[in-house]
Amino acid sequence: MESKVILRTCQENLVGLDEEIQLILAAINSQIATVIEGESGVGKTELVKTIAKALGRPFYRVDGDENLTITHLRGWFDPPLVMKTGFGEESFIPGPLVNAMQQGGLFFFNEVNRAPSESINGVLAALDERQIEIPQLGRVQAKNEFYSIFARNPAEYIGTNPLPEAFFDRCILIRLEHKSGDEAKRIVRLRTNYTDDDLIAKIVLFTDRTRYSANFEAGASVRAAIQLTQLLKNRPTTPDVIFPAIYAVYSGKVKLHPDINKTVEDCLFEIAEPIFFPKKS
Ligand SMILES: Nc1ncnc2c1ncn2[C@@H]1O[C@H](COP(=O)(O)OP(=O)(O)OP(=O)(O)O)[C@@H](O)[C@H]1O
Ligand SMILES: [Mg+2]
Repeated sequence: MESKVILRTCQENLVGLDEEIQLILAAINSQIATVIEGESGVGKTELVKTIAKALGRPFYRVDGDENLTITHLRGWFDPPLVMKTGFGEESFIPGPLVNAMQQGGLFFFNEVNRAPSESINGVLAALDERQIEIPQLGRVQAKNEFYSIFARNPAEYIGTNPLPEAFFDRCILIRLEHKSGDEAKRIVRLRTNYTDDDLIAKIVLFTDRTRYSANFEAGASVRAAIQLTQLLKNRPTTPDVIFPAIYAVYSGKVKLHPDINKTVEDCLFEIAEPIFFPKKS
């Protein structure tokens, strides 16, 4: 596909990320890997999936955790098949990294900072050499279209490892921020196909305020606004409908500040009341 068409296809599915899309498309052309950094719900996954789709490349995703071994990433031999055919391509089950290399796909390593450094280093070697050696199988050569994108959430420290310097040396870093106001409204409309602009405006304002509230250490993202819109679609906008829906969507997403002696519910409703039920003067 022509590059202008690829860019336009991406822009149609992503709000307010034009510069980021262009940087990543240029990095893909130059085979420089990308790290996308940003809190939960800022659009990391959507950005990568959209680019893969627009480029027409297969998409292989893996989520980092402490048990993610290099074998998971590369692939493994299936014991019954090895019994039947011996070690070779027939008995090898490719993992996401090998699949992406062989199919010329986009390898998306989500939550990379949760993975053991041994696994990250294995991927870095694949980036450098564009080939990997697999014992009993031989060399796997990457197609030209093979490309790696990593994502991490810097707000998560528990269970995460600092990424090695060698990692950032090989990548460009794209930082995504929460979308708010008009951009967030456009995202909610795009994702829900709902057109009640008044309700969407209130939901987005409420969501944005959870992030600025002194009561919360962490607020909610546009993902929460999308969910609340979906729950409230075509329902009466009365307190008995709105408050339980707000609690259901937001209580597990916001994080109360440790010094606050109020419940999450109270704090949420304090923000919601003047937005959804302003007192008439
Ligand atoms: N800029 C944007 N344009 C269009 N949709 C967006 C944008 N940002 C976020 N979204 C939508 O918001 C939701 C959350 O985005 P996404 O899943 O990509 O977040 P994430 O950064 O990957 O979060 P997590 O760290 O929790 O995995 C999705 O429904 C996505 O479609
Ligand atoms: Mg994601």
